Amino acid sequence: MSLFRKKSIDVILKNAENDSGHSMAKHLGVRDLTAFGIAAIIGAGIFSTIGKASADGGPGVIFLFIFTALACSFAAFAYAEFASLLPVSGSAYTYSYVAFGELFAWIIGWALIMEYAIGNVTVALSWSDYFTSLVSNTTPYQVQEWLCLDYFTAKEHYAKVFSLLVGGLTLDEIKASENGGLIEGFLAYSNAPKLFGMRIIFDLPALVINLLITILVYRGIKESRNASNLMVLVKIAVVILVIIVGAFYIDVKNWNPFLPNGVGGLLKGISAVFFAYIGFDAISTTAEECKNPQRDLPRGILYSIVICTILYVAIALVITGMVKYSELAVGDPLAYVFEKIKDLHWLSGIIAVSAVVAMASVMLVFQLGQPRIWMSMSRDGLLPPAFSKIHPKYKTPSFSTIFTGLLVALPIFFVDINMVTDICSAGTLFAFCLVCGGVLKLRMDPNAPPSKFKTPYVNAQYIVPALLLLFLILAFTKFSDTTFYFLKWESLSAFFMKLPMYTFVIGFFVIAFLSFKHKFSLIPVLGLLCCFYMLSQLGYKNWLYFTVWLVVGLVIYFLYGYHHSKLSKKSLN
Ligand code: ALA
Repeated sequence: MSLFRKKSIDVILKNAENDSGHSMAKHLGVRDLTAFGIAAIIGAGIFSTIGKASADGGPGVIFLFIFTALACSFAAFAYAEFASLLPVSGSAYTYSYVAFGELFAWIIGWALIMEYAIGNVTVALSWSDYFTSLVSNTTPYQVQEWLCLDYFTAKEHYAKVFSLLVGGLTLDEIKASENGGLIEGFLAYSNAPKLFGMRIIFDLPALVINLLITILVYRGIKESRNASNLMVLVKIAVVILVIIVGAFYIDVKNWNPFLPNGVGGLLKGISAVFFAYIGFDAISTTAEECKNPQRDLPRGILYSIVICTILYVAIALVITGMVKYSELAVGDPLAYVFEKIKDLHWLSGIIAVSAVVAMASVMLVFQLGQPRIWMSMSRDGLLPPAFSKIHPKYKTPSFSTIFTGLLVALPIFFVDINMVTDICSAGTLFAFCLVCGGVLKLRMDPNAPPSKFKTPYVNAQYIVPALLLLFLILAFTKFSDTTFYFLKWESLSAFFMKLPMYTFVIGFFVIAFLSFKHKFSLIPVLGLLCCFYMLSQLGYKNWLYFTVWLVVGLVIYFLYGYHHSKLSKKSLN
C-alpha cells in the first residue's frame, strides 16, 4: 500500500550525497560527538526537575536513574545501529522510513518536533528562571516580573491572589504562606504595561536566549561545535566540583529510609528523570557533518550516556545525603543544598552560573537537531523544498534553522514549563519505541544490509515471555492491590485514565509473542519494553495531547506530504 511505501537504504545514501552531502561541512569527530551528547543531556533535568523527583522518591531515586539509563542505553544501541547503517541527518525519521515506510516516518518526524522544538521551550523557560534569579542575587538589578513570565500563568496567579486579598489576607501574609509562589504572577499582571488595552507579559530572557542560539546555529556547525565544547567543559567541571565538595557534607542518616515512599513515590519521578537523559539521540542528526559517522556516532552516543549516568547517580547520592530528601522539592536543588551550608555559599553562585551555561548548551544541540530533521523530510518531498535549502556560505540548513527559532519562540508567550516537560518526554519516548521496533523489523529482513555497528545478539525467544510471566506474577501477588484496582471497572473516565497502562500490558503480550516467534534480539526488545512502560506512566492527559498533535500531523501529511513525496507516482512521473 502506498502509505507504507519504503525507501531503500541505497537510495537514501545516494540522495543525501546528491542533494547536499557534499555541501555540508564535515568537522565532527568522536570527541566532538561525545561532547555534543553531554551538551544535550546535562541541563534543566539535573539542575532543576530532579529536585521534585528526589523529594518524591527519596535517595532511592538513584534506582530510577539507573533504570532510565538502562532503558536509554538499550534504545541507544538501536540508534547506534541505525546511525551507522544510515549516516544521514534524519535520525529516527529516516530510520523509520526504511523500517516501516512513509506514514510512520512522517509520524515520527512530526513527533520529534515535540522532542526538539517543544523540549527547547522547556529549557528556555528553565534557563530564564535561573538567569533572572542570578541577576537579582548578584547585581543590584531585577528583571521586571512582566518580562519573565507567560501571559496566562500571570493572569491565573493574579486571579488567585486577588481572591485571597478579597478574603482579607495581606500581600505579606500571602507571600509567607504556601501561596507565596503566586506573587510573581500577581505582580507581573498588576504592573504590566498595556498596549491597545492588552497587558504585555512575556518571558524576555527565554526569547533572547532562543534568538542568540538560533543565530549561532545558523552561523555554522564549526562555531556551534566550539561553543558546545566549551560549555560542556564548564558544566562537567562544575558537576564534578559539586560531587567532590558535596561528598564531604553527606550525612548518611539522610539516606535512611532509602525508599521512603516505596515504588509508587519513585515512579512519580519518571518523566523528570527521563527528561534529564533526553538528548543523546540528537547527535545522530549531525551524521552528515561527521568525519567518520559509521565508527564515531555509535561511540559518541554510548560514551555520553555512560558518562552522564555516572555523574547523575553521584549527584543524586550527594544531594539526598546532604539534606533530607523531603526538602528537595525546589526548582534549583543543586544551588539549594549548598546555600544551606554557610561556608559553601560561593559554590551555590557558581552552580547558578553553570546551570545557565548548561541549559544554553542543551538548547544549542536541540536547535541543531530540529532543522536537520526537517531538511531530511523536505528532501523526501514531505515538506516544501525551502526546508532543505543549505546556506551557500555557512553550509547550514538556513530556512529550517530560522523556522525552528520561530517555532520555539511562539509557545514561550503562552505555555508554562510543567506542561511542556511532559509533552517533550512523551514525544521522545514514542520515537525511542519506534527506533527499537525499527531495528527488530529491519533484522527480520534477510536482505537488509549489515550495519558496521551491530548490537550484540542475545536470543529473546524465552527470556521475554519469562519476563512477561514475572510481570504478571508480581502484579497479582506483590502489587495485587494495585492490580485489582487496575482491573476493576469504575467509570468511563477512570477507564480512560488507565488506558495507557492497558495499552502497555497488551503491547507486552504482543511483543512476548513476536519475540518467541521470531527469536528477536533481546536488547532492542528491552529498549522497546522499557520505553513503552515509561510512556504508559506519563498519564492519560499527555497521551491525549500527543494524540491530538499526531492527528494534526496526519492532516498535514494527507494535504501535502502524501502528494509531494518523492515516492508518490505524481513525483516520479
Ligand atoms: N536532558 C536535557 C535537559 O535535562 C533535555 O535539559
